[in-house]
Amino acid sequence: MTFAQLCSNVRADLGQTHRYAHCVRVARLADRLALRHGESTAHARLAGMLHDLARLYSGERLLAECRARSMPIAEYEAASPILLHARLGAYLARERYGITDASILSAIAKHTTADRHMSRLDIILYLADALEPGRSYEGRERLEALAFSSLEEAYHEVLVGSVDYCRRMEVTVAPPTLEAIAALKDQARPILG
Ligand SMILES: [Fe+2]
Ligand SMILES: [Fe+2]
Repeated sequence: MTFAQLCSNVRADLGQTHRYAHCVRVARLADRLALRHGESTAHARLAGMLHDLARLYSGERLLAECRARSMPIAEYEAASPILLHARLGAYLARERYGITDASILSAIAKHTTADRHMSRLDIILYLADALEPGRSYEGRERLEALAFSSLEEAYHEVLVGSVDYCRRMEVTVAPPTLEAIAALKDQARPILG
């Protein structure tokens, strides 16, 4: 399947122009970030285009599709099934688009909550999803520019910002996000002795 064919299948699969346009913008930004930071642009583009395959599913459908695949469902996911669109999306990318590359599937699975262990491609997709130009919030452009100069600094800021946002909205922060924050703090801690 060529990339153009894949895009047209994703468009039909999503069934919504708005979500498809988001995926195209995420794929473009992920591609540019990968080029800038020496990662595979082809992998970044694929991850971007396929990251939200299950985003428009209802909570009920997400739970049912995950159960049908015997995927473990954590308590916090059962409480907020929308979070499952990321992990289910990785399954759909494999089943429908034949993606077997573990780095692409990992980036798709982690794009919403992040995780303790984040590869550079995981971070690129996480940032591209959060910073694509269709989103409008204060500081987006600055953070996008920062992502080109320092992937790590942008990741740190976006992650901390997402936790702050959840707390302000009184939404429970997903455990993998807390783990991701803890991992950043571990890295920042000076090595003693
Ligand atoms: Fe998503
Ligand atoms: Fe997305």
